[in-house]
Amino acid sequence: MSMTAGDGTAYRNYINGEWVAAADGRTGENYDPANGELIGHFPRSGQADVDRAAAAARTAFESWRKTPAPKRGEVLYRVGRLLEERKEDIARTLTREMGKVLVEARGDVQEAIDMAYYMAGEGRRLFGSIVPSELPNKAAYGVRDPLGVVACITPWNFPVAIPSWKTMAALIAGNTVILKPATDTPHSAVKYVEVFADAGLPAGVLNLVMGSGSEVGMPLVRHPDVAAISFTGSNEVGREVNVEAARELKRVTLELGGKNAIIVLDDADLDLAVDGILWSAFGTTGQRCTACSRLIVQRGARGELERRLLERIEKLRLGHGLAETTDVGPLINASQLERVHSYMSVAQREGVRILCGGEPAREGDLARGNFYRPTLFAGVKAGMRVEQEEIFGPVLAMIEVESLEEAIAVNNGTKFGLSSSIFTSNINAAQTAMRDLATGIVYVNAGTIGAEIQLPFGGTRGTGNGHREAGLGALEFFTEWKAIYVDYSGKLQRAQIDA
Ligand code: UN1
Repeated sequence: MSMTAGDGTAYRNYINGEWVAAADGRTGENYDPANGELIGHFPRSGQADVDRAAAAARTAFESWRKTPAPKRGEVLYRVGRLLEERKEDIARTLTREMGKVLVEARGDVQEAIDMAYYMAGEGRRLFGSIVPSELPNKAAYGVRDPLGVVACITPWNFPVAIPSWKTMAALIAGNTVILKPATDTPHSAVKYVEVFADAGLPAGVLNLVMGSGSEVGMPLVRHPDVAAISFTGSNEVGREVNVEAARELKRVTLELGGKNAIIVLDDADLDLAVDGILWSAFGTTGQRCTACSRLIVQRGARGELERRLLERIEKLRLGHGLAETTDVGPLINASQLERVHSYMSVAQREGVRILCGGEPAREGDLARGNFYRPTLFAGVKAGMRVEQEEIFGPVLAMIEVESLEEAIAVNNGTKFGLSSSIFTSNINAAQTAMRDLATGIVYVNAGTIGAEIQLPFGGTRGTGNGHREAGLGALEFFTEWKAIYVDYSGKLQRAQIDA
């Protein structure tokens, strides 16, 4: 037991309001992806820790669900204020651990601040429905009930924002939570949970259990006390989570990535399009679910767009995310670097031209980290593997098309459907695209990244299972409806019969 999360090198889980080591004391190391420096030792938890957290969350649920929602909201307001105070510190921790450049890490924390205030406000709404009864002297309304204990399993690419989408929505609705962060970003999760501890959240309401998917994630999914699972990660693991949870009819929300495209029509403002493409394809080193990995360009704009893009890509500076001169940070780990690089031979086999990049960057200090050169593929055709599969790195595949209709068909022709964008100055084309782009998020004259927290976030087809995070969609997931009938007529009134 301890009052603090760790001593600067060894960190602990947070269970029932206490910072505790894994039951069997195991730890794993975590390293800075830009230079290999040790960040710290983190618990490698297992079933016993999951059991402890689930018991704590189940006990805490009884009083948390009865705490008035506006009071739950007050805790979130304090969380928002503390996140603001600690924004710089958390952002630096996040950059060091995950690699994204500091301005983006600040954005990651800002997203959690926005979510804290948004969900805090929901504490005074949590709208239900009041509808008339078909019978006289009878009231009827629908209220939202929390689900119970929920597990939030989060990825490394947004180590603060995504935990906030899930945990804050769950908490305001009256659920208690077990957070399992990715093994690549436990330090950010510790900093995030410290804020709730310091904001006065009652013990057991939010618990943090660190460790791997197989030793912590799946035991959470299977745990009889866990009512629902909110998962963001790979398609493969998402399917497993869903199948496993289905055995006990548990509710699951999945957010599983994309193969997002920017469409550029002949009439587009090319300067604007180039800015949007660079930001969406190479920001966060291409490691966003919303990252642009396909550029669908109409024939008349292709040559000029390609020239301008190459000129700008050449100027992108790789380096540590904490250095002010850096545009593009490292990939998260060595196996991601290998995975990204493996697509270069796929591209070559498919007859694709690699216009720039195509290899790890190893000069000077870069050799100590997982750096990959921003890469542009040309001559890509719809249906190729590099056009269909999520690569999750700084790799952009350019596909030339003849018309808006063809562009939309190519955009919609993958198994994913998260985000898409169109650059055009033609209002009819923009309107048609808004109607026909079959993704959960559509941008007009902006890139594919940068969703705001007050709107639903998620995608169609293989991107998920139909739920949405953020916005009011999140409350739909984390609550279930209870219909209440109050008959004040003093006699038996039979619905459908006496009405
Ligand atoms: C993700 O990549 O999983 O819209 C989340 C965006 C960010 C969130 C991305 N606000 O790019």
